[in-house]
Amino acid sequence: MVEQQIPADIEALAVNENAEIVLARRYYRKDIDGNPTEDATQLFWRVASAIAAEESKYEKTTASTEILAKDFYSMMANMEFLPNSPTLMNAGTPLGQLAACFVLPVGDSIEEIFDAVKHAAMIHKSGGGTGFSFSRLRQKDSRVGSTGGVASGPVSFLRIFNTATEQIKQGGTRRGANMGILRIDHPDIMEFIRAKEREGEFNNFNFSVALTEDFMKAVENSEDYDLVDPHNLEVVNTLNAREVFEILVQKAWEKGDPGIVFLDRINRDNPTPALGEIESTNPCGEQPLLPYEACNLGSINLSIMLAEDEKNGISVDWDRLRNVVHLSVRFLDNVIDASRYPLDRITEMVTTNRKIGLGIMGWADMLFQLNIPYNSQEALNLAEKVMEFIQAEGRAASKQLAKERGAFPAYKDSIFGERDLGPYRNATVTTIAPTGTLSILAGCSSGIEPLFALSFARHVMDGDKLVETNPFFKTALEERGCYSEKLMDAITEKGTIADIDYLPEELRKVYVTAMDIEAEYHLKMQAAFQKYTDNAVSKTVNVPHEATVDDIRTIYWMAYEQGCKGVTVYRDGSLQSQVLCTEGSK
Ligand code: GDP
Ligand code: 5AD
Repeated sequence: MVEQQIPADIEALAVNENAEIVLARRYYRKDIDGNPTEDATQLFWRVASAIAAEESKYEKTTASTEILAKDFYSMMANMEFLPNSPTLMNAGTPLGQLAACFVLPVGDSIEEIFDAVKHAAMIHKSGGGTGFSFSRLRQKDSRVGSTGGVASGPVSFLRIFNTATEQIKQGGTRRGANMGILRIDHPDIMEFIRAKEREGEFNNFNFSVALTEDFMKAVENSEDYDLVDPHNLEVVNTLNAREVFEILVQKAWEKGDPGIVFLDRINRDNPTPALGEIESTNPCGEQPLLPYEACNLGSINLSIMLAEDEKNGISVDWDRLRNVVHLSVRFLDNVIDASRYPLDRITEMVTTNRKIGLGIMGWADMLFQLNIPYNSQEALNLAEKVMEFIQAEGRAASKQLAKERGAFPAYKDSIFGERDLGPYRNATVTTIAPTGTLSILAGCSSGIEPLFALSFARHVMDGDKLVETNPFFKTALEERGCYSEKLMDAITEKGTIADIDYLPEELRKVYVTAMDIEAEYHLKMQAAFQKYTDNAVSKTVNVPHEATVDDIRTIYWMAYEQGCKGVTVYRDGSLQSQVLCTEGSK
């Protein structure tokens, strides 16, 4: 790697303690002995300069590469925007794979299955996550023509993908992560629904059942529906839709898996149906993609998109948000060109559609500062307003880039071309990611999630433990003269202040955590953001341990009714190991 010369007017950056731990462990470039060869300032400059350098190949660019590199740098150094982890890790390095999300096809032959295993391994090595549909595989025990033997079926092959993922240690970046999808009308669907019953099996996968509108109607009417062998399209069985739905809900109640995904709905929003049907998403569900497509994501930190003045108090800083959206879209579009993809087919698909996924993090923190409870109509209204603004400004930025650089190559055959909506540079612009690591770097709440706890122990990577108290909560306590060590111990134990009844009521209303929030509000929040998101929204509907199977059914059904593209639930304590937990849980 060429030694980067950092301009003299770039100020050295001090990141928070948690961010430093995460950066040192996984993000800094290292020498052969494993010692970091860069710090946070150098990391962000490496990324900013590599991404800005892409401008030079566009003749009509309005931006000067050097000024742009500094703008990109300050946007990241100020934690206003962060690109997905692979961009932070790999931009300006020989590996150079910058996208977090990939979808690969799995064809119904041994060659195609093992091609997918190999391609997934290559993607995992570079830090990307992969999603697959297994719906094309013929059912278990059906005949294999060429050998006269019997087929193993999707679940059996899934085990190979899972084991392969387990063995790849990812060149020092991160472990593999996968999404496995099976259509509800696949003959092996019951085996798939039950596959994650035993904890630990298929650990490197999230599973989602692809539900169709027809199936949901059959559930509503308690009708039978057909299971179809994908290999010969014969109906091999019929099941009662309501009974299957019940088992699906029961399994999700038990272990959080499988989630559900509404494929018809996703394909209704497919911007380029002429290029194929969408059959899977990336591992955390927010990015539906065509086979061999990849997408890079980035997230704006809403927790600092606020302004304060004497007249209005604290309010959303729309001007700042607009500027950050425009700069982020330019950044993410450059990332497409800067990235090296593991397969030529992927490069081809990515540069044809040029999908990007700009989203947000720090939503719960924004609400805290505005004194708006997450579980309120006011929060839902603001969610729509914020995301409508980001979507509109993001598309405007993509239009501007199309003027400078041309529309995405598939534009003419896309739904935008057909409706003559004016050329865009990108087939999609917005996606709401979980921001699992990015939110730690930015020191804000993750994605659109409420806080898991106001004060908690975060177990990250190989047993490290970080104790964290939400800074806005701490300030709110101090301002009201309520802060004490004893109180903080009680809060870290419980995570919530819902039943600490000597604390002021207005505080208890605003500082709600995931478990305090009614499941419907989790879901309504997801739906509010989905309304103005091109791709999908990552959300876990967290429910308390006591939640019933009925509660889960209600959530799955509401996701269908409210226009979500999918949903995941997690009942507290239903798995032995969970990434986030309060000290007192379980
Ligand atoms: P972040 O950028 O690291 O904060 O990632 P997010 O939590 O926002 O996840 C976004 C996407 O990145 C996921 O849907 C996956 O596609 C991918 N991803 C996230 N975590 C991992 C991981 O640990 N390993 C791999 N291979 N991919 C991941
Ligand atoms: N479908 C979609 N997303 C999922 N996640 C976990 N399982 C699934 C699934 N089956 C996502 C959660 C969270 C992230 C950690 O993983 O929604 O955002």
